Amino acid sequence: MKENDIRFIKLLILVNGVVPLALLIWDQSHNKLGANPQNFLILTTGMMTLIFLVLTMAVTPLRKITGWNWLIQFRRMLGLYAFFYGCLHFLCFFSLDRGFSISSTLTEMVKRKYLIVGSTALIAMIPLAVTSTNAMIKRLGGKRWRALHRLAYVAVIAGVIHYYMQVKADVRQPLVFAVVLAVLLGYRLMEYWRRPKPVMAAPATANPKSGT
Ligand code: HEM
Repeated sequence: MKENDIRFIKLLILVNGVVPLALLIWDQSHNKLGANPQNFLILTTGMMTLIFLVLTMAVTPLRKITGWNWLIQFRRMLGLYAFFYGCLHFLCFFSLDRGFSISSTLTEMVKRKYLIVGSTALIAMIPLAVTSTNAMIKRLGGKRWRALHRLAYVAVIAGVIHYYMQVKADVRQPLVFAVVLAVLLGYRLMEYWRRPKPVMAAPATANPKSGT
């Protein structure tokens, strides 16, 4: 794929990632967020977080299945959008629902366990966002960076569980997310098992002349 095409797709992702936020701001300023605008903001930003997280997780399997290696160039953007919407989601809850009160937020977490699970997901994303720059990848080295980025699994699994736990009646949508995630993670597991394992160095054979 040509450099110009990559740049164009990046621009497309950039614009599409901002559109939901722009719509929210527009609708909010025109009082069009429905009967419970606070809840609408929390739910929409939560959904955007999960969608971007799952899209980020889809990049590697898709790249391997199709051979489109250029897909990898969009993974960081998708992941950063997930983090951005995750922070916004938390901020909406913290400000609109809890009035910026830390103690009230903590008390609510004890009452509603799905908030602890959601927070686990968001906290797991912090080191990923911090180490997403080229300089950080260089500084950590590929091996350590990849090991750290396994936290993405924690984030997305906790994100889906958080969604499932907070649903009141109809669990179909969180289950769809769970199935998609199971397929994506299942693919990675299969890849891991199929990968040839490094052969252990054979123990040095005893030297027959030395009598050992
Ligand atoms: C990566 C982290 C997170 C993800 C992926 C996520 C995702 C979601 C999703 C998908 C929903 C439901 C949206 C819908 O029904 O349309 C939701 C709801 C919600 N989330 Fe999160 N969330 C995360 C972190 C958090 C955190 C850190 C908090 C607060 C401490 C939080 C608080 C809430 C609340 C209060 C709701 C609404 C529950 C309700 O009205 O019944 N979430 N979240």
